[in-house]
Amino acid sequence: MILSTSVQLAKTYLEKGGVIGLPTETVYGLAGNIWDQEAINKIFAIKERPKNHPLIAHVAHWNQVESIASDIPAMAQQLADRFWPGPLTMILTAKPDVPSAATAGLGTIAVRMPEHPLALKLLSALPFPLVAPSANPFGKISPTSAMHVFSYFKGKIPLTLDGGNCKIGLESTIIGFKDNAVVIYRQGVISKDDILEVLPNTAVYYDIDSQNNYPGSHRSHYAPKTPLIITESLEETLEKYTDQKIGLLSLGTKGENFSTIAEIRYLSKTNDLKEAASNLYAHLHELDRLNLDVIVAELFPTSDLGMVINDKLIRASSQFV
Ligand code: TXA
Ligand code: MG
Repeated sequence: MILSTSVQLAKTYLEKGGVIGLPTETVYGLAGNIWDQEAINKIFAIKERPKNHPLIAHVAHWNQVESIASDIPAMAQQLADRFWPGPLTMILTAKPDVPSAATAGLGTIAVRMPEHPLALKLLSALPFPLVAPSANPFGKISPTSAMHVFSYFKGKIPLTLDGGNCKIGLESTIIGFKDNAVVIYRQGVISKDDILEVLPNTAVYYDIDSQNNYPGSHRSHYAPKTPLIITESLEETLEKYTDQKIGLLSLGTKGENFSTIAEIRYLSKTNDLKEAASNLYAHLHELDRLNLDVIVAELFPTSDLGMVINDKLIRASSQFV
């Protein structure tokens, strides 16, 4: 695999039906031409993703949305005006000719405009939108740097467009529209309150469970190889695991005081949740490579963003429960 910042090179591979690593502000994607059945098949094969899970289409212009979706609600346009480019994915009615491999035959297509200069430059240069799931093997931690994509897929894709570290580091918020209401299927950094600011007179509600069959919402997702323990009391957990090689994923600097911890990664020394979110997957990746016995993380405070991070942590640890 080539790591490159050349949009021209990326374009060449995509036009030949290739699949590439795509930087976005949330996580890296594994991208291919939405109209190319073979490219989509490759994405599923490389990721080992079950076929019945739909993909997100990435666009740079509103007319690209109109090329793949119809009956677009006015609300969608208002939200796009406010949040695009940015980490909001909207599920819309798919045009009939959108390959069912991309929509999993649901008749709907998820769309977003990523806020990353290289991604936007590439998408603007292409005559087609790109479908891209997160660039991790099914069930593994999402990648937030080109090196993460490299270590997952080095023999399998020709190129990753190197856009540096993802600014946000958590997957986009996914919403849909139902009977004039907005339904949140997956929460990222854009919250219910953010949506209500744009649509104050609209009902906005969560439906997270209906998505649990889909990968981005799968129970055991974002999973490191090393067991991850989520605790409300760091002290108690450390006492329990005195004979183990422990890695700590730390918000704040509390971990410094414990001599039994082998490795600490600071998500944010100043308790800044945005900074913590942007470091979460990268630090999990790093700790997971150190052959530790366990990784320990304390639950985050229950603000909007804290809850999103807790949700990711719980999913990362749930295979061991
Ligand atoms: O931030 C992100 O959204 C990243 C970057 C690369 O854009 N992408 C991402 O894709 O997280 P993925 O495939 O890992 O997660 C996509 C989620 C899945 O949970 C899937 O269920 C949901 O989007 N989804 C996609 N199309 C859908 C549809 N038509 N109806 C319902 N859910 C859909
Ligand atoms: Mg994913």
